[in-house]
Amino acid sequence: MKIGVFDSGYGGLTILGKIRDRLPQYDYIYLGDNARTPYGTRSFEVVYQYTLQCVRRLFSMDCRLVILACNTASAKALRSIQQTDLPHMGEGLRVLGVIRPTVEALDSLTRSRVVGLLATDGTIQSQSYPLETEKLFPDIKVIGQPCPMWVPLIENNEHHSAGADYFVQKYINDLFAQDSRIDTIILGCTHYPLLIDKIRNYTPHGVNIVTQGEIVAESLACYLLRHPEIETSCTKDGTIHFFTTENVDKFQASASIFLNTPIKAEHIAAP
Ligand code: DGL
Repeated sequence: MKIGVFDSGYGGLTILGKIRDRLPQYDYIYLGDNARTPYGTRSFEVVYQYTLQCVRRLFSMDCRLVILACNTASAKALRSIQQTDLPHMGEGLRVLGVIRPTVEALDSLTRSRVVGLLATDGTIQSQSYPLETEKLFPDIKVIGQPCPMWVPLIENNEHHSAGADYFVQKYINDLFAQDSRIDTIILGCTHYPLLIDKIRNYTPHGVNIVTQGEIVAESLACYLLRHPEIETSCTKDGTIHFFTTENVDKFQASASIFLNTPIKAEHIAAP
C-alpha cells in the first residue's frame, strides 16, 4: 500500500516535502482538492463531506493510511471520520491529522506559555488548537488569529507580490495586539510556510515561528515504528504520484515550485 497525503490545494505539499525528506523510501499519493479550495471559509458540514470524499478516494487508490495535511480538515473532519466513518470502511484503514503532533511540540518551544496561532477562519473557529493544548499543557494559552486572505494569495500565486505584504503585516499586528507576551507562533495552516519570508519580516525579533512539516514527518516516522503491521505493508519504491481536482498544467507549474523539482500530475474529478 501507499501513504496518502491530502490537502485542499497546494498547502499539503509543504508537509509532503518534509515527509519525503524524512521517509524517502515509501510510496506516496498526493491529492489536492484545488477545484474546491479554499476549505478555510467553509462550514463544518462541507469540509467534513469534502474531506471524507477525498479520503475515500485515496483509500480506493491503494492507500490504507491517509495523512490530512490540512489543518482545516484536521480540525473539522478528522474526529468524525475516525469515530463515525472509519469503523464501517474496512479493516486496517487509518487517518491521521496535523494538529495533535504540532501541539505536542509546543511544550519545549514556549517560555512565556503564550502561543499565537495563525490559521484559517475554520481552524480558529473550531477551537481545536486551544482544546488540544488544554489537554496536554493546561498552562499554555493559545491566542488565535484568522488570516483569511493568505490562502487565496497563495493559491493564486500572489504570495510574493507587494500586495501580500499588506495582509501579512496586518494579521501579525492583529495577533500581537491581542497579547504582546506571545513568544511562539504556530503557522497553523499548511499553506503558510510559502509566506514564511514575509511572516518573518513582520514578526518581532526573538519570536519562534513553528512550521509543521518536520514535526508531522517525525510524528509519522514514530507512528510507523509503533505500528509494524502498517509499516511492513507499505511499499518502498520511493515514488510520489500527484493528483489534483483542478487543471493539471496549473497544478504542475505551482507544485514544482513548492517542491523544488519538476512533477507530473493527473487530473481526477472532484469526488
Ligand atoms: N492548507 C489548509 C490548512 O492547513 C487549508 C487551506 C484552505 O483550504 O483554506 O488549513
